[in-house]
Amino acid sequence: MIVLGIESSCDETAAALVRDDRTILADRVLSQEAEHRPYGGVVPEIAARAHLSHLDRLMREALDDAKLTLDAVDAIAASAGPGLIGGLMVGVTTAKAVAMATGKPFVAVNHLEGHALTARLTDGIDFPYLLLLVSGGHCQLLAVEGVGRYRRLGATMDDAAGEAFDKAARLLGLGYPGGPAIERAARVGDATRHPLPRPLLGKPGCDFSFSGLKNALRLLVGRLGTLTDRDRADIAASFQAAAAGHLAERTARGMTMFDAMHADARTLVVAGGVAANAALRVALAETASRHGYRLVVPPPRLCTDNGAMIAWAGLERFRLGLTDGLDFASRPRWPLDAGAPPLVGAGVKA
Ligand code: KG4
Ligand code: ZN
Repeated sequence: MIVLGIESSCDETAAALVRDDRTILADRVLSQEAEHRPYGGVVPEIAARAHLSHLDRLMREALDDAKLTLDAVDAIAASAGPGLIGGLMVGVTTAKAVAMATGKPFVAVNHLEGHALTARLTDGIDFPYLLLLVSGGHCQLLAVEGVGRYRRLGATMDDAAGEAFDKAARLLGLGYPGGPAIERAARVGDATRHPLPRPLLGKPGCDFSFSGLKNALRLLVGRLGTLTDRDRADIAASFQAAAAGHLAERTARGMTMFDAMHADARTLVVAGGVAANAALRVALAETASRHGYRLVVPPPRLCTDNGAMIAWAGLERFRLGLTDGLDFASRPRWPLDAGAPPLVGAGVKA
């Protein structure tokens, strides 16, 4: 079974082919970073146009990479939300057109489910598992119990994790995208010179918050006035330590909640762009080993937005008979846990 997956929910245009034996046959990702950099963030209209310009070519290249034609493909999957509506419509409309022209089924994939199921593609893990989803638009802890079966244990009360990194980088004048810039600067920084507070330390539950940390950072930068490269590196290191520490501490609480639901399922999966952060991975590895959990982190290329995760989630749905009609409408907001209360800022970037 082979599925073609299309991703266009934010600023990556991607097309990939995945087979049910967990082989990625092709995985083309085009980052639009350079087009958005002058604006310091993603511009929806520029993103939608870029998806439109590049998607057809990327699909053709993916098929060429895999030495396949569309005849060999069993289903066409596209990221149908949450995300920027213009980009989603480009991907979904393209997928529907291919499905209609070839007579193959169409699968509408929740972008977050793509992130959530990636560890089953890369590591073949079984349900259930605890998922920390940390991306540009999300920061949540979920119990993943099956395809389409998610229970949210905690979520951010303000900014998403990647958003916090991006804002911190902007405050420090480190450029866009912020996560990799903070990580690079932090490598030569001293986190003890300007320590920053850990949000929600000792507070019950496993929700997240970055606004206090962001404020402390803003005050510190204001107090120092002109920043030297040394200052930037030291502050980036402090920010990264506080953010990674916060994420790990709240995840430890999530583990206790997850234990009460699934006593024997001790796997923690980290997904989303921020999972590429090495300091976070170290902090989570410590937390996991302290709680007797196995930590699974997909390779960075599959943590940030890509087509393989959409193809895989599409494949998982397709083999359960979960296909969608050609009247399926893209959803700018689309929570994984339909029963949970609405999230702050959800759906802007996934
Ligand atoms: O999952 P993703 O590629 O896009 C979506 O949000 O769906 O995540 C992008 C986010 C950005 O906010 C970026 O700054 C952050 O992930 N990020 C990082 C790192 N690499 C990317 N944050 C911290 N450290 C990194 N190395
Ligand atoms: Zn994403």
